[in-house]
Amino acid sequence: MTTLVRILRFTRSLAPYYVGIMIAAAVVTAAGLAVPFITGTATDAIVDAVGAATSGGGVPAGSVRTVVLLALALLAVGLVEAGVGNLGGYWGDVMSAKMRTILSTRYFEQLLALPQRYYDNELTGTIVARLNRSISEVTNFMKTFSNMFVTLFLTTASVLVISAIYYWPLAVLLAVAYPLYFWLTTLTSRKWQVIEGEKNEHVDVASGRFAEVVGQMRVVKSFVRERSELSAFSGRFRSTETLTAAQSRNWHLMDALRQGVLHLIFFALYAIIFVRTVTGHFSVGDMVMLIQLMAMARQPVTSLSWVVDSSQRAIAGSKSYFEVMDLEPAVVDGGGERPHEPTGRAGSTSGPAVSFRDVRFGYDDDADVLAGISFDVAPGERIAFVGESGGGKTTITSLLMGLYGVRSGRIEVAGAGDGSDLDALRRSIGVVFQEPNLFSGTVAENIAYGRPEATREQIVAAAERAAVDPFVSRFPQGYDTVIGERGVKLSGGQKQRIAVARAMLKDAPILVLDEATSALDTKSERLVQAGLDELMRGRTSLIIAHRLSTIAEVDRIVTLRGGRIDEIGTPAELAASGGIYAELLALQHSTAKSDRKRLREFDVV
Ligand SMILES: Nc1ncnc2c1ncn2[C@@H]1O[C@H](COP(=O)(O)OP(=O)(O)O)[C@@H](O)[C@H]1O
Ligand SMILES: [Mg+2]
Repeated sequence: MTTLVRILRFTRSLAPYYVGIMIAAAVVTAAGLAVPFITGTATDAIVDAVGAATSGGGVPAGSVRTVVLLALALLAVGLVEAGVGNLGGYWGDVMSAKMRTILSTRYFEQLLALPQRYYDNELTGTIVARLNRSISEVTNFMKTFSNMFVTLFLTTASVLVISAIYYWPLAVLLAVAYPLYFWLTTLTSRKWQVIEGEKNEHVDVASGRFAEVVGQMRVVKSFVRERSELSAFSGRFRSTETLTAAQSRNWHLMDALRQGVLHLIFFALYAIIFVRTVTGHFSVGDMVMLIQLMAMARQPVTSLSWVVDSSQRAIAGSKSYFEVMDLEPAVVDGGGERPHEPTGRAGSTSGPAVSFRDVRFGYDDDADVLAGISFDVAPGERIAFVGESGGGKTTITSLLMGLYGVRSGRIEVAGAGDGSDLDALRRSIGVVFQEPNLFSGTVAENIAYGRPEATREQIVAAAERAAVDPFVSRFPQGYDTVIGERGVKLSGGQKQRIAVARAMLKDAPILVLDEATSALDTKSERLVQAGLDELMRGRTSLIIAHRLSTIAEVDRIVTLRGGRIDEIGTPAELAASGGIYAELLALQHSTAKSDRKRLREFDVV
């Protein structure tokens, strides 16, 4: 019920539609209620006329006219039902389309506001599956419910009042039937919802995996995992079969019981009506009217069970929707300070562009990945990070971009503001990620992702510097070539070059290169590196390079060991200090297996 209220609050702007649908339903119901009276009146008129005729009095004057008029009244009722009913149906369609928009947009808005930490722990496909299922169940329910609610209410009330007027025990029996039926229905509801939740979980997990498998078919095929992926997938769905069987058995057993009880009550109702007609308390017309009324009384009872059933579905479905909506981004994030404007020198241009002060950080509730990290990067300086694979190099760049809050310490970035405006911070950093993820769309759109207003000339200029131009100009459509989801039509190196062009076009004062050229062959790496060198000129650059020759070119190197800084110094200083960098340099030209292995541990060649 609270879910229902929340959905209504969420979709307040749809109130006119709800009202319209309810009015239409009220008109249709009222018209429907007229039918028993018209047929009842017609029956009495006919019985009278036939009685008069058989007793020799001839057909009473005007009786043909009366019954024709009553038939016309039935026609009118039918036309009103058809017209207004369809108007309500139209409003219902429009309303559910609008509701879909509102619920989907709000969901996406919330997802966009959630911190990186949420995405570290959720499967993309699951997020999508949840959105689809929840929203379609909720909209379907709201559409039918707004249609049914008034009908249910009006029919029930009218049937009770009318039967009370004719003979009060009828009303009493009906008044018992409704709550009894409702109670019997809710008895099954708790168990039903729990099972439905479990079923949804299986389907969501299967959908999440499905999306992953489809997105990484190459991996699946080359490791020959089709069969096991398939059996895991169908296993999830088979679990829903077992659950459905249990859920449905329970539901239908209870339904048989409910129906049985209902039939008993209706047996009593019909018996009363028949007996009172035979004993002359009701006219034949009264009887016809009451029998039709009882038939109408049945309908709300059965639609009640529909309402309970589909509202349970909607409640179970919307649970995961609201679970996501209820996430407080700050709470999911776990807090922690984001990069700040350097203390005491807001707006000043002297001092370091980036500085880490005793930064400690770990993911979720895991152990620290980084501890006691302190270094300064002067404006325009190039600084490289060297450390074992998994040593926290990428993590340092994520902290710089404010994707996670630090556990303690402080990160200062000139121009970062007070740490609350992450957009401003991120606008000042151009980044090439370790994985060059692209979007489906054209090459030009991908390059301009960080600067959608860029002109074609600017896009091409960035592409030329990133060595994208040579291969893109060979495509028939050039920069308007559509690259598939995840850019499957491109090689890893080509994607990486587009990612470099994307960062170049952003033209931000701080540059982060996280193994930006790792997927390139030596020749194209030289080309891209030349572009990157030019880009780095005058920019504060944090570089994680996989080639020692690239590292040798930077201004200073930071080496990491065990999540802490081991050394900081110029390449020349560190080459002579006997630390990690010196060790790597010494290994560089060795062909010994153990030496190559040691180098690989540092992601360098
Ligand atoms: N999103 C994440 N959630 C939890 N742990 C992570 C996450 N990303 C990285 N880690 C862990 O943090 C450590 C440092 O990772 P990373 O910064 O990517 O290393 P590097 O870039 O130096 O190879 C690793 O032990 C890794 O397992
Ligand atoms: Mg990394």
